[in-house]
Amino acid sequence: MNNKLALIAIAVLLVGGAIVTFTKPNAPKNMSMNGHSTPQGPVFTVSDVKVPALNLTEMRGQAAYTDNCAACHGERGIGTEQGPPFLNRVYVPGHHGDASFFSAAQNGVNQHHWPFGNMPAQPQVTTGDLKAIVAYVRAIQSANGFAQ
Ligand code: HEC
Repeated sequence: MNNKLALIAIAVLLVGGAIVTFTKPNAPKNMSMNGHSTPQGPVFTVSDVKVPALNLTEMRGQAAYTDNCAACHGERGIGTEQGPPFLNRVYVPGHHGDASFFSAAQNGVNQHHWPFGNMPAQPQVTTGDLKAIVAYVRAIQSANGFAQ
């Protein structure tokens, strides 16, 4: 191969590499594509999270979420060292339907997807607040690309 051809070959490889690098989905690095791996701690920062205009129910949910869920699931669902983020494929509606939120709060959750330990039941949260929490979480998820 003469020098010119070698240079062209290198240029093609570089451009190809750049295309692959820049077209990758903007997925957090410590998460597998099916979302079943076990990232440690938050992946998003609060300022990364887009908050859509919230309706009254979603606003009620935001308040109840902040009081009862955010200590572990993080402000705006970003997760903490105590619990998983809801901004994650694992928790899209098709994977964890709304019923799983009621069940989690009413019965608690045994550790199964993550290394955070069990989720204790949250019996203090009313059904009305839970409905609102689900509405809020779904609003945040869908505004940040986790609609389904
Ligand atoms: C003390 C920490 C803590 C609090 C408070 C908490 N969670 Fe959790 N939650 C967890 C952990 C840890 C898991 C992950 C369990 C696993 O899959 O390994 C979890 C999982 C879940 C799941 C997934 C359930 C499933 O079927 O896999 C839902 C839904 C959920 N939490 C909703 C809530 C809601 C709603 C609140 C507030 C009312 C809340 N959590 C408060 C720690 C917490």
